[in-house]
Amino acid sequence: MSAVRGEFSSRFSFIMAAAGSAVGLGNIWGFPTQVASNGGAAFVLVYLVLAFVLAYPALMAELVIGRFARANAVAALQKVARGPAGKKLGAATGFYGIVVASLILSFYGIVAGWMLAHWLEPLTPWLGLQAGAVHTIAAQLVFTLFFMAATVAIITGGVKDGIEKWSSRLMPLLLLILSLLILYVFTQPGAVSGLKVYLIPDFSRIGDRGLIVSALGQAFFSLSLGVGTMLIYGSYISKQENLPVLGGLVTLIDIGIAVMAGLLIIPAMYVALENGVEIFDASGALLAEGALVFTVLPALFDSMGVAGGLVGFAFFALMSIAALTSSISMLEVPVAYTVENHGFRRNAATWLIGGTISAISLAVILSFDALFGLVVAFTTRFSQPLLGLMLCVFVGWIWHRRGLLEEIKQGNPQVESSLFWKIWPIYVKFICPLIILVTFGDTLLS
Ligand code: TRP
Repeated sequence: MSAVRGEFSSRFSFIMAAAGSAVGLGNIWGFPTQVASNGGAAFVLVYLVLAFVLAYPALMAELVIGRFARANAVAALQKVARGPAGKKLGAATGFYGIVVASLILSFYGIVAGWMLAHWLEPLTPWLGLQAGAVHTIAAQLVFTLFFMAATVAIITGGVKDGIEKWSSRLMPLLLLILSLLILYVFTQPGAVSGLKVYLIPDFSRIGDRGLIVSALGQAFFSLSLGVGTMLIYGSYISKQENLPVLGGLVTLIDIGIAVMAGLLIIPAMYVALENGVEIFDASGALLAEGALVFTVLPALFDSMGVAGGLVGFAFFALMSIAALTSSISMLEVPVAYTVENHGFRRNAATWLIGGTISAISLAVILSFDALFGLVVAFTTRFSQPLLGLMLCVFVGWIWHRRGLLEEIKQGNPQVESSLFWKIWPIYVKFICPLIILVTFGDTLLS
């Protein structure tokens, strides 16, 4: 075991860092996109419910394990588990999470590279490049490498001089840009029709199994759950802090920003419609996913003239910032493990792992059709729910309840008589595993 462990210097810095991890492309791209393809407000409603009843308890499980063990996922789960077999299972689960976090970063870096390309596209004429030069394969490789280098540079700084410093700078900026964009879109004709689609639920869709599975996956991804990201951030929280409150704030911020992003994107689509941009596909559904972000929105910005140039620039800056405060949290997972369990220096570990993950990203870009969807499905559809389930089992079934209570009591001495302590242990023990199992079974069958 080498090096002294870092710790967040204040409650604010932890919240910025954890909210920075949670708020990412999943909120600003994924959430509005899912809303568009799953019946508007019906999805929003189901999402809100699942985020509170399922994702928040699972987030708490990770924060509590992390702060208790003050260690990376492998060491932490070993510490929580009992008996040699339990400890082996703990280590294996932690290691699986570390691998998945790294693989998530490998595809996240690619998508972030696209955002950078769109962000910098307006500069191409000044650089003497042809229009479209930023979207070639070669450019994609460069942008992804650039994004990974930025992620590595921040993580070499450690908890205080890297994660907390950059999250505390970038998160307020993100909120500012997002708010200004929303205000601007609402001055445009058509925005109000979009608002209606966003806010008035089509109740007939609420029971859709597809909708519920998507909402669950979205909630897990959005709160960065399962892979040890929140566990490692939790391990840097001071023992004086009240964990249920901190976790609650992070959940609220994550949901709040997703809802705000929907408030930007869905109305923006109807502004685009007003401006003559096609926003529906052949079946009459709203365009979603890549087509939404890379076709509809750029067409909208083009149709807005000079202002559109600025709006587009701000929008892709927003995406890039959101991606960066998330990617650093993914890289911290394998780095903390390598430093703590294998005695590497942080600098060396960060460059080594960042380099390896970048190499995987490049391979995925070069065989995009074969690999990209596969990596996304393996990590987010398969591994994240499975790992989330394991973590709930560790906290609910394996860890001594007394030990658990002792940990939560630190910084929150009255917790024993609180609503949280009445409800949460039952949730992580029974309800979360059950809901995950049912929806996971559904995913496996389909
Ligand atoms: N939550 C982030 C988003 O919404 C992405 C993210 C960061 C993540 N760390 C993670 C997703 C760990 C899964 C696991 O974009």
